[in-house]
Amino acid sequence: MEILHVSAECYPMAKAGGLADVVGALPKYQNKLGHVAKVVMPMHRTRFLYDNEWETVHKGSFSMGQFFYEFTVIKEKTNKLDFDLYCIDINGLLDREKIYGYDDDTERFTAFQIAVLEWLSRWEHRPDVVNVHDHHTALIPFMLRFCYNYHHLSNIPVTLTIHNAQYQGWMGWDKGVYLPAWDSWRWGLLEWDNTINPLACGIKCADKVNTVSPGYMEELMQEANGLEALFNYERGKCSGILNGIDYSVWNPKTDTYILDNFTEKDYEAGKLLNKKQLCKEFGFDFKLPLFIFIGRLVGEKAADLLPEAIIRAYAEHRDKFSFLILGSGDPSVEHELMLLNNRWIGYYNSRMEYNEKLSHQMYAGADFLLMPSRVEPCGLNQMYAMRYGTVPVVRRTGGLADTVKDYGEQNGYGICFNNASVEDILHSMRRALELYSETKKLNEVRLTMMQIKNSWEVSAQKYIDLYSSIQ
Ligand code: GLC
Repeated sequence: MEILHVSAECYPMAKAGGLADVVGALPKYQNKLGHVAKVVMPMHRTRFLYDNEWETVHKGSFSMGQFFYEFTVIKEKTNKLDFDLYCIDINGLLDREKIYGYDDDTERFTAFQIAVLEWLSRWEHRPDVVNVHDHHTALIPFMLRFCYNYHHLSNIPVTLTIHNAQYQGWMGWDKGVYLPAWDSWRWGLLEWDNTINPLACGIKCADKVNTVSPGYMEELMQEANGLEALFNYERGKCSGILNGIDYSVWNPKTDTYILDNFTEKDYEAGKLLNKKQLCKEFGFDFKLPLFIFIGRLVGEKAADLLPEAIIRAYAEHRDKFSFLILGSGDPSVEHELMLLNNRWIGYYNSRMEYNEKLSHQMYAGADFLLMPSRVEPCGLNQMYAMRYGTVPVVRRTGGLADTVKDYGEQNGYGICFNNASVEDILHSMRRALELYSETKKLNEVRLTMMQIKNSWEVSAQKYIDLYSSIQ
């Protein structure tokens, strides 16, 4: 089967979050299963772009409202990622350093989607299925079916994968002219609450819709940032497929970012060496339990609770633990967390950045990973942590609830709590400190976690089964 993934992000070309990891891994595993999966994304101006060789495979042009754009499709030459990676360059619009966050993001991603369809119209390989990801690409199912230019493509089945339903790409009706001439009888498919809502439109027009964990799909039926009724109405085509993690990238045995490689057999010594190195870098005492938080510092991840939780935890257990934070996001949260850097020197530190290498070293060297997320469609960090023997301390929500079982339960291995609140975080940190003091139990938990299989093999097949159901 030939599959075309369309996404705003793909690791290692460009990453803002877990979406990139998924789009960088899923096609690779689909290819291993004997299919031909490819990825097309915007040509962001990233390091990967400059470090690799590309060939031009297509040039075209289109109008979008009053604008006229020329675009180029380039392809990475060496199949370095184990799948074909195509990038679309629209001069001045897509070739920027950041993936999102510009005032003209609506224009940028609408133009990207039109360029994808223009290219597809003229491409000799017609995919058997198109898999679009999140709202940045969710107008494609509508355009394929109802824009006159693409009528000849209208029988290609489309799956929409939702990694995050909080962001929906809302745009005013004045932007409706951006879409290439479309069947105006169908305006209701674009409409939600007096705006064009690309995510809602994708849910209505795609043949199948899946979220990145079964638990998250159930939650969306109750609360979906205004789209609950739609999810319920479209229930018949909705399902959840749990993400896997890329075992070739996230493997403590082969990871080149970490100081000492280890396996299930020698994890005690291996983790200790990595911990010593990490603690040395930050001036921490390696004998104390080390908590980490890695991720975007935004409300969804409940990062706003961290400053108060940390202050109160140090008040309660002074000199009893270390805490290291890596992430970036909301400037006010960043500021509060940075202020704490000078308060408990030798016990606490935070780095406000995205740093792939340091994140690997943190998973390898830490004892506990805190994820108090308010919303977590799947969450990959808890799975990375488990693979490296680091105990996840998570709120029971979405994919976290699907992947972590409290160590108090039979065969459990993590620490779970119910509410995104400072109280619940503190309670869980107490339980973590207790677990840390029981070395035998802690090691049992570590071993159990490291043996769990969260690899992509199984999930990649589930995607294939989903596509097969709409052929
Ligand atoms: C988004 C979600 C995260 C998920 C990731 C990959 O970043 O917030 O929970 O793991 O997408 O699907």
